Amino acid sequence: MSSSAATSSTGSIAVSVWRGDARHGNFQLFQVPQQPSQTILDVVTWIQRHADPGLSYRFACRVGMCGSCAMMVNGIPRWTCRTHVNKVLRDNRLTIEPLRNMPIIKDLACDMSEFFDKWKQARGQFEGSSTRDQQVAALSPGLPRRRIADAATECINCGICYAACDVVSWNRDYLGPAALNRAWSLQNDERDCAGEQRLRAVAGDAGCHQCHAQQGCATYCPNELNPTASIAGLKRMVSQAWFNKGLACHPGKKCGLGKRHA
Ligand code: SF4
Ligand code: SF4
Ligand code: FES
Repeated sequence: MSSSAATSSTGSIAVSVWRGDARHGNFQLFQVPQQPSQTILDVVTWIQRHADPGLSYRFACRVGMCGSCAMMVNGIPRWTCRTHVNKVLRDNRLTIEPLRNMPIIKDLACDMSEFFDKWKQARGQFEGSSTRDQQVAALSPGLPRRRIADAATECINCGICYAACDVVSWNRDYLGPAALNRAWSLQNDERDCAGEQRLRAVAGDAGCHQCHAQQGCATYCPNELNPTASIAGLKRMVSQAWFNKGLACHPGKKCGLGKRHA
């Protein structure tokens, strides 16, 4: 049931949905029946099942675990399976778009390749030194670095912080809050042995020193992580390494501290 009228009748919501790709597209209006405890993902699913089966969007778990359902809702990045309509409805209207700062594939599905590539660029993979024949090293939950690492580990890769980040909008090379948050978590994992290489990776021109610390990421992270604090930790770590050991980020290039290396 699609409608060209912007008005909504009692019991229905006027929902504008982005249709198309990054180059061509427009908003299309649907009238969606309002239900108790309805989520934004329920609204999108209703449109696909009852109004336009061609609508593209992404989801998997529906319970806030997989991070795949994030979209812009009335201009704010949100996990749609855990966002109730009655919390975000304005004048009985919703506007639903794909996440900001990522190329659109089609409709509400965006291409997250660059988001995940940046995890690799920030050396977001654990690099241990033990083999599979050795026992897994036990780390007490009370250790100070373990507690710091724990605070940053609940990331579900939803991309909401990345969509909220203005620096990513201005500088598409910026590694972004999620990748840097992951780097900070690993820097505090005592079993990881790639600390110096990871510091070089996050200290470059597109790294932690680009963050302006205004907390857009922390404001909207659905799991209440604080990438801004993680990035501040990385800045401190890079500075300490630079003063203590003259950390060189990329030979021949300026590092995040403005030092040009031989
Ligand atoms: S605090 Fe830093 S990483 Fe977070 S949104 Fe702002 S610029 Fe981006
Ligand atoms: S830090 Fe938060 S907002 Fe960013 S990807 Fe992880 S869970 Fe999503
Ligand atoms: S569908 Fe998995 S987090 Fe929303």
